[in-house]
Amino acid sequence: MARAADFRSDTVTRPSADMLAAMVAAEVGDDVLDGDPTVARLERRVADLLGKDGAWFVPSGTMANSVAIGSWTRPGDEVICERSAHMVQWESGAAGALHGVQTTTLHAPSGQFDLAEVRRAVRLRSLHCPKTTLICVEQSFMGSGDAPGGRVVSLESLRALHAFARELSIPIHMDGARLFNAAVASGVDVREYAACADSVSVCLSKGLGCPVGSLIAGPREFLERARLLRKRLGGWMRQSGILAAAGLYALEHNVARLADDHILAKELASVLDGSGALDCTPHEVETNIVMARVVDPHSDAQRWMEHFGRHGVQVLPMNERTLRFVTHMDVSTEDVARVLVALEHRPR
Ligand SMILES: Cc1ncc(COP(=O)(O)O)c(C=O)c1O
Repeated sequence: MARAADFRSDTVTRPSADMLAAMVAAEVGDDVLDGDPTVARLERRVADLLGKDGAWFVPSGTMANSVAIGSWTRPGDEVICERSAHMVQWESGAAGALHGVQTTTLHAPSGQFDLAEVRRAVRLRSLHCPKTTLICVEQSFMGSGDAPGGRVVSLESLRALHAFARELSIPIHMDGARLFNAAVASGVDVREYAACADSVSVCLSKGLGCPVGSLIAGPREFLERARLLRKRLGGWMRQSGILAAAGLYALEHNVARLADDHILAKELASVLDGSGALDCTPHEVETNIVMARVVDPHSDAQRWMEHFGRHGVQVLPMNERTLRFVTHMDVSTEDVARVLVALEHRPR
């Protein structure tokens, strides 16, 4: 049986032979004792790319976001997020469980906040209220499945939000798990997007094809507290230069090729939409995520997922009626052809 066409996530990629060779050749040290030179190079490189004072290497995007929340807030504070943001939906309540902060959520299905709503959500400075001490944005915006996913949040809206937040001295954290996808899709430099936030997290383990790793970047004072939190969360690693080497390789070789993933996502969306069984507005697919809604009211996402599985295609249900397909370097047009075959044998 041929390997399954795995569209569940862009995290499923295996390191290429060249990436593995770079990892094997990495110069390493003990990052917790006296530093790892390859980790230091990766942290410098990412900080420079994002235009920030520095960056810390951490095991996951979830930890990067957690470090950011904990660094900007104190227990009892409140954070403004979009209601389907990864931080709200998929990080096991870390903001409350680990940092004692609550979130207030806004509805912005494209990931782009309405400034008037943000203004209304910022708390009064009163002893009776929690203090609003952070606003979080996600770039690209994965979405909940109720609207197209993988949306690029516009630079203008991010700039406007940043200007507003600055006036109130509220920092912005950008969950940039797929920031490079947004930059490649829009032609806007990652630095421009990053300039609209005080701290930025980026993932190496998604479209960039690394096995593990994320970075959290920001200004000097933030980095001091972020380093302490990374330590407390157990995210400071030892001979992690082996992983950092994969990251340096990916930044060199795997960024521009994200455009191929975006083209494949559009192709896939046309195939899905063209079937009449799944609806996914191909013209709104901007990056590597396709949300496909089940048209037949008597069927659902679970049944479709199982049907695709029988045809060697793996996908994830996002909710009862929506499946998520994600393109990445380990799927191809041949895999899209397998999707087409599955659609031709649609479940009844
Ligand atoms: C938007 C977004 N942020 C953060 C994360 C968390 O990354 P990790 O799985 O490395 O913890 C993900 C993971 O898919 C994500 O999609």
